[in-house]
Amino acid sequence: MRVTVFGTGYVGLVQGTILADVGHEVVCVDVDAEKIARLEQGIIPIYEPGLEGLVKENHAAGRLRFTTDAAMAVAHGDIQFIAVGTPPDEDGSADLQYVLKVAETIAEHMAAHRIIVDKSTVPVGTADKVRKRVSEVIEARAKAGEVSAELTFDVVSNPEFLKEGSAVADCQKPDRIIIGTEDAHTVEVMRELYAPFSRQHEKIIVMDVKSAELTKYAANCMLATKISFMNEIANLAERLGADIEAVRQGIGSDPRIGYHFIYPGVGYGGSCFPKDVQALIRTADGIDFDAKVLKAVEARNAEQKTTLFAKIRDHFEGELAGKTFAVWGLSFKPNTDDMREAPSRVLMEALWEAGARVQAYDPEAMEETQRLYGHRDELTLCGTKEAALKGADALVIVTEWQSFRAPDFELIKAQLSQPVLFDGRNMFEPARMAKKGFTYYSVGRLPQG
Ligand code: UDX
Repeated sequence: MRVTVFGTGYVGLVQGTILADVGHEVVCVDVDAEKIARLEQGIIPIYEPGLEGLVKENHAAGRLRFTTDAAMAVAHGDIQFIAVGTPPDEDGSADLQYVLKVAETIAEHMAAHRIIVDKSTVPVGTADKVRKRVSEVIEARAKAGEVSAELTFDVVSNPEFLKEGSAVADCQKPDRIIIGTEDAHTVEVMRELYAPFSRQHEKIIVMDVKSAELTKYAANCMLATKISFMNEIANLAERLGADIEAVRQGIGSDPRIGYHFIYPGVGYGGSCFPKDVQALIRTADGIDFDAKVLKAVEARNAEQKTTLFAKIRDHFEGELAGKTFAVWGLSFKPNTDDMREAPSRVLMEALWEAGARVQAYDPEAMEETQRLYGHRDELTLCGTKEAALKGADALVIVTEWQSFRAPDFELIKAQLSQPVLFDGRNMFEPARMAKKGFTYYSVGRLPQG
């Protein structure tokens, strides 16, 4: 089938590539000419395991093409994906200008029936807005005699559920494929498009457009709620002298609760949870509904991002000026270089504010850190995790990269001026850390040593 994807960010590039990989003819469009030129050379703008090879392979096979030519792209695909960004407005609601601009572009160039698919995470009601914008443009073109007023189209909500770091695998083996439309022809076409991904088990769930739009927000907000809930219980455990890791296993064993997404930590970050929780709160506000649970989820998360700093401040009795901290892990989670809403940023900024220095290391996010904070004198970017330790007053682990799981503790002790470790991800056993001679702080467990 012929497919066009507008937007070569995480969602668009991964979806386009995976569709090409099963044999569809995919054209990816972006307004950023440099990005397109680089993609043509196989240079991927994001770090995502497995993506580069697939892009190169499918591009070489001619099934995956990149262009800035919107007219060609609209002529190509019977299905037109909108996968552009929906950044938060100043008030936290999703900014739809890019989505609507693409809708307009499709309407300006289409000459035959098109299925327009909202892939970006968009508030409930966006499909209606896209539909309206497309109709207006077609009407104007029909008046000018360019196209027939009978030109038809449908707008579908088909939200994406991929996770950064496993985006390729998530897209290849989705848990579910949500198709929001009331049009029988569209359902048929979308079923055919996704048939390769829905073989062994039926993955496709068809519903009305608004329910599909809300499903995406409900899924992310539920996951964010689980995390904030666990962080709240972790705070309680710390104060009560309980061990959150024991509690986590104790409750996770109940299949109604489950083990997933109940890891306490330094708060959720990334491009989705913070933005989507906020956007749904704004949607609720917009219809005079007070989303009490979501507001609490957001507030707990904002506070949780400050807890590591509070532990550091308390340990050093507020004397942070002139101290140096080794920070391991800067991306918002492992296997990505993404630092959007990353807890590491809140921590580092608080340390700087208090007059401390940071020696930072991350397996993938060094370039991004340089871009964000390269101008700061109080930051040293280190080439290895060991280099970051040299002469530091304590080690702080913010992201649970695999390569941090079994570090050389003797070396850490030798390099730090004091053996103090603040662990925002509960990577180690407190008792074992105490035995190794560390003063060890973690989340939801009593400090040791
Ligand atoms: C998320 C959703 O998982 C995905 O389905 C959706 O399409 C986009 O948003 P992503 O933002 O890539 O994906 O990351 P995810 O792996 O879900 O982690 C989000 C944040 O939650 C990270 O900061 C992570 O550290 C944190 N987290 C996750 C916890 O603190 N505890 C947990 O138990 C799980």
